[in-house]
Amino acid sequence: MTTSPRRRFKKFSAPVAGLIFFCDNASENFRQVMILRDEYLTQERAPILEALTKMKATRLVPFDVPGHKRGRGNRELAEFLGQACLDVDVNSMKPLDNLCHPVSVIRDAEILAAEAFGAAHSFFMVGGTTSAVQAMILSTCKPGEKIILPRNVHRSAINALILCGAVPVYVNPQVDERLGISLGMKVADVIAAIKNNPDAKAVLVNNPTYYGICSDIATITEVAHAHGMKLLADEAHGTHFYFSKKLPPSAMSVGADMASVSMHKSGGSLTQSSLLLTGANINAGYVHQIINLTQSTSGSYLLMASLDISRRNLALRGAEIFDKVIELVEYARDEINFLGGWYAYGKELTDGDSVFDFDVTKLSVFTRAVGLAGVEVYDILRDEYIFSWSSATLPTCWLTSPSATALKILSGSSVLWRTSSASIAKIRRG
Ligand SMILES: Cc1ncc(COP(=O)(O)O)c(C=O)c1O
Repeated sequence: MTTSPRRRFKKFSAPVAGLIFFCDNASENFRQVMILRDEYLTQERAPILEALTKMKATRLVPFDVPGHKRGRGNRELAEFLGQACLDVDVNSMKPLDNLCHPVSVIRDAEILAAEAFGAAHSFFMVGGTTSAVQAMILSTCKPGEKIILPRNVHRSAINALILCGAVPVYVNPQVDERLGISLGMKVADVIAAIKNNPDAKAVLVNNPTYYGICSDIATITEVAHAHGMKLLADEAHGTHFYFSKKLPPSAMSVGADMASVSMHKSGGSLTQSSLLLTGANINAGYVHQIINLTQSTSGSYLLMASLDISRRNLALRGAEIFDKVIELVEYARDEINFLGGWYAYGKELTDGDSVFDFDVTKLSVFTRAVGLAGVEVYDILRDEYIFSWSSATLPTCWLTSPSATALKILSGSSVLWRTSSASIAKIRRG
């Protein structure tokens, strides 16, 4: 009986990437594999989740690591985290692929993430966005080479400079004197840095900053490319930009070369899971080697599955989710500003330059005018109202890219935000 190539492939439909090794007539079979891959690799799929679910169904007996043996070896941990969690805290094995050299389900999940984020390639990162930022810089700069970056970069970028011996050329961001926050980089300042350092290898942009402030990343990318430099974006706080037209542009949408994206911050995945995205002009194989210099050889399937599931959720429902978040944050912002004294700032900060754009899902409240430091409000909210805010400094308290649920609680919290005089008096008493 002759079997059509299509049929033969069907039984190996997952992982599709491995199918290529079963071909006899290379070009025809390659075409068939591509057709099958397109059918299989849709945003509805979650290849890592599916492989883990299949593995659970086989009731495999674990004689390998991790030593908790699906929780049997550590009952307390199983009770605390739940059996479902420990069932999939497993080691790399054939049907589950390997993060260091992905060829099947992890590779497929990365292909889907790249597609969802408009990148040429994506890497699943299990060492946080810290590891993604470091891989971006380490794969761009050699010892002694220059990189242009804003003075308010995250410590992960500074530490990358220490690791690779690159030389920083700092651009001072503007500062909002009243709010006491640093803003974005002026395009003119970046151009000056590029002109003074034509040998620099790259420009790094925070998109957005911790405060939700965006520089003009599209123009900066154009200028950097015109001078033969790469554009690297720290998008630790920008995952959601990829899924809403109402938000500032994402790095990949304006042609950036690499972007580090904290899926765990506003994308819904587990803490420490992150993505490194690369553009078409980047040698992904080289970047992968750099990642493997420091990445664990025991990549957590909990983290990887959470990236896969969250990517699917964002690709299918991201626009709707972030529409809702924007609506709720704007509502909360209006209510807070209505109180008087408190200032929840928003899009009005934009000036076409150092605040080229603003992430409206960020809810930051300037508190000094009511006689309280941001850190005091932070403590009051956490201790008395059981709100966990993202962070605080002297003048400001932040709720970072809040989830719809958090905002429902916040907007329903009449005690705190609505009954203005009573609640302010209560907060003032501390
Ligand atoms: C701007 C920025 N970049 C990078 C990081 C590092 O991210 P992670 O904590 O996922 O390692 C952070 C963390 O808060 C950040 O704020």
